[in-house]
Amino acid sequence: MSEQKSHRDPAWLLDLDEKCKPYLAKLVKVTPISEASDDKMRQGLLQAGVAIVEPFRHWLTRMKERTEPGTPAHTFLTENEEEETLHWMWWLDMAEPYGLRKEDFDKVTLSRPMRELNEYLWECSRSAPLPVAIAAVNYCIETAAAQMTAAFTNAYADRLGDKAGRWVQAHKEGDVEHSETARELLVDLTAGDPALQEQATRAALRAYELFYAAMSNAIPADAVA
Ligand SMILES: [Fe+2]
Repeated sequence: MSEQKSHRDPAWLLDLDEKCKPYLAKLVKVTPISEASDDKMRQGLLQAGVAIVEPFRHWLTRMKERTEPGTPAHTFLTENEEEETLHWMWWLDMAEPYGLRKEDFDKVTLSRPMRELNEYLWECSRSAPLPVAIAAVNYCIETAAAQMTAAFTNAYADRLGDKAGRWVQAHKEGDVEHSETARELLVDLTAGDPALQEQATRAALRAYELFYAAMSNAIPADAVA
């Protein structure tokens, strides 16, 4: 898909990138994960795992079901869905050194901000116009997860080792190909439709707002050991 990378981003998408920057800057200031106590890490892994990582593949499935086989959106969502199924397994591996097992994830009660984020992404993936869902689920969440992972990765990846560190390794540089393709789809699916571009922009910013609220609640400042 590298030939797509030369694509020029339209003004509305560049404008959205700018509007997201303050959120990304705030996100990397959420208590550094490497400094959080094990107990807070467990809470963060459980909350983010249940609210975001486990359902991510289901959001992609809901979106895929609304696309025609053979279209770029369908292909992208199919590939991404397979990968995110694997990433959920890797998340469970990452939780293991913290003494967490899969069963522990079944018993989680989400915090209110995590639940709000989760519900918003379910709603977008089920019923928002496809580029609006892509803006919230792919553009926002993938970018934000990559930025957070990159900011906290060093001490953390060392501690985890090879198997448990796979999720961090996969996300620390962001999923370059996926985010490129998500941008392409955002551009193509909203071409010539300023109202839809505006709706996609609002959805991405709303998702950032909810993501920040959820993460700062999951790993709050008092989490430092
Ligand atoms: Fe992932």
